[in-house]
Amino acid sequence: MIRIAVPIVSLLLLFTCAAAYDPLDPTGNITIKWDIVSWTADGYTAVVTLNNFQLYRHIMNPGWTMGWTWAKKEVIWAMNGAQATEQGDCSKFKGNIPHSCKKTPTVVDLLPGVPYNQQFTNCCKGGVVAAWGQDPSAAVSQFQISVGQAGTSNKTVKVPKNFTLLGPGPGYTCGPAKVVPSTKFLTPDLRRKTQALMTWNVTCTYSQFLARKHPSCCVSLSSFYNDTITPCPSCACGCENKHTAQCISNDAKILSMAGIHKPRKDNTSLLQCTHHMCPVRVHWHVKTNYKEYWRVKVSVTNFNYRMNYTLWTLVVQHPNLNNVTQVFSFDYKPLVPYESINDTGMFYGMKFFNDVLMEAGPLGNVQSELLLQKDANTFSLRQGWAFPRKVYFNGDECILPSPDSYPFLPNSGRKSDFLGLWSTLIPGLLLVLLCFG
Ligand SMILES: *[C@@H]1O[C@H](CO)[C@@H](O)[C@H](O)[C@H]1NC(C)=O
Ligand SMILES: *[C@@H]1O[C@H](CO)[C@@H](O)[C@H](O)[C@H]1NC(C)=O
Ligand SMILES: *[C@@H]1O[C@H](CO)[C@@H](O)[C@H](O)[C@H]1NC(C)=O
Ligand SMILES: *[C@@H]1O[C@H](CO)[C@@H](O)[C@H](O)[C@H]1NC(C)=O
Ligand SMILES: *[C@@H]1O[C@H](CO)[C@@H](O)[C@H](O)[C@H]1NC(C)=O
Ligand SMILES: *[C@@H]1O[C@H](CO)[C@@H](O)[C@H](O)[C@H]1NC(C)=O
Ligand SMILES: *[C@@H]1O[C@H](CO)[C@@H](O)[C@H](O)[C@H]1NC(C)=O
Ligand SMILES: *[C@@H]1O[C@H](CO)[C@@H](O)[C@H](O)[C@H]1NC(C)=O
Ligand SMILES: *[C@@H]1O[C@H](CO)[C@@H](O)[C@H](O)[C@H]1NC(C)=O
Repeated sequence: MIRIAVPIVSLLLLFTCAAAYDPLDPTGNITIKWDIVSWTADGYTAVVTLNNFQLYRHIMNPGWTMGWTWAKKEVIWAMNGAQATEQGDCSKFKGNIPHSCKKTPTVVDLLPGVPYNQQFTNCCKGGVVAAWGQDPSAAVSQFQISVGQAGTSNKTVKVPKNFTLLGPGPGYTCGPAKVVPSTKFLTPDLRRKTQALMTWNVTCTYSQFLARKHPSCCVSLSSFYNDTITPCPSCACGCENKHTAQCISNDAKILSMAGIHKPRKDNTSLLQCTHHMCPVRVHWHVKTNYKEYWRVKVSVTNFNYRMNYTLWTLVVQHPNLNNVTQVFSFDYKPLVPYESINDTGMFYGMKFFNDVLMEAGPLGNVQSELLLQKDANTFSLRQGWAFPRKVYFNGDECILPSPDSYPFLPNSGRKSDFLGLWSTLIPGLLLVLLCFG
């Protein structure tokens, strides 16, 4: 009974808590800041800055899409470093025609290599924005916008409403724009401070449950002390596609056809058929047990024929991550969301070596070994202790197998595994308290 109940309860816990709260990155958000830098004849010029403060969730190809609703009859005269996707109806204008007259404009970043006079600082990366924990200098995107028919003082300007953000897919919810104390800028020689005429901020937070119906990755486990490989749970990422033949087997002839690997306009993925139907699987293998250290091998496999994951990130929670001695082929950073607990780490690819997780196929995996120093008081191979508590790939939580299926030490009775069970239930219960408390 418990065997079945536990996964169901955990899934329920996962999906009832739809609030945008991520316990491993509690303050993670994306901020959109508008700084009015000058008044114009009929409006203003503003610098818009998108900062990704999320530790491990980046915005990947095809990049961000931002939208809002004008409060009055504003138009966009011009933009640098980004563009509105539609001009809309500008038939009222004679002579100068605005860049966009839409009431609810949709704005995207420009592609790399646009002419110099269309650029702006931190622009033109196709909307790709790094995670703060991975590369703070690349976690920003900016553009300049000239707004007309807007009011020309901080008393007459009305802040836009209903901001939306795709990054690149759904999942983000943006709060209202709030007027905040004006940003102060330092001149390049650092000898003078200037100040925006008016500033407003919008904060957007991510929820995996708004982003997609199913999880997008799963975890499998193995160890040197037991031959059993505990696979990903069946249908961990939903099996609807399997039944409508939206997946193909890895020896299908169609794979050698030209164009099959091209990303599609409609973003549909093409998965290799597996029992879990996840685009990504993370495998954790407890490899060696030394006297003072132990060694783990982590591999990440891509099952999506239509996706190269650039700048991928892997986040793992395990009590021994406070004592990482060496990470062999990934870059590594400890994440310390709560000052007292140091049990979470972020792993990502080394530049030009394995920072791209290639499309499904022979090259579609990345792997590394970790060497961890034992703490004699806590280290154990029993009760699944050596396996991770939580795993995230690209900021989305992966489904773990149920604890009673973990490979266990010969001679360690099943009864003792109850502890293991509780150790996964308790964080779940805490999550519920956090959600509803
Ligand atoms: C947004 O993230 C920043 C950086 O983590 C944090 O200081 C700020 O409090 C967050 N804002 C909100 C509204 O959560
Ligand atoms: C508008 O600007 C004046 C001074 O120029 C300042 O005192 C006032 O606080 C500003 N109001 C807002 C809403 O920013
Ligand atoms: C903003 O969105 C809310 C809810 O979606 C809607 O009721 C409201 O009319 C929108 N406001 C504007 C100005 O579009
Ligand atoms: C507004 O957003 C910026 C980041 O874009 C942040 O540094 C600043 O603290 C925010 N201001 C407020 C009052 O939240
Ligand atoms: C595909 O992605 C683009 C850009 O992110 C988005 O505008 C579009 O709605 C998506 N299409 C589907 C079918 O999800
Ligand atoms: C992934 O990258 C490889 C090599 O750069 C390229 O040949 C392939 O078309 C890419 N696949 C997708 C789905 O973008
Ligand atoms: C957390 O653990 C890592 C080693 O895994 C260590 O380098 C780091 O200093 C620790 N941070 C804190 C705040 O204890
Ligand atoms: C790592 O483990 C050793 C041995 O148990 C201990 O002395 C050391 O303080 C630990 N380091 C951290 C950052 O906890
Ligand atoms: C290995 O683990 C599996 C699954 O947890 C268990 O059924 C099996 O008995 C274990 N093998 C040994 C030799 O203990």
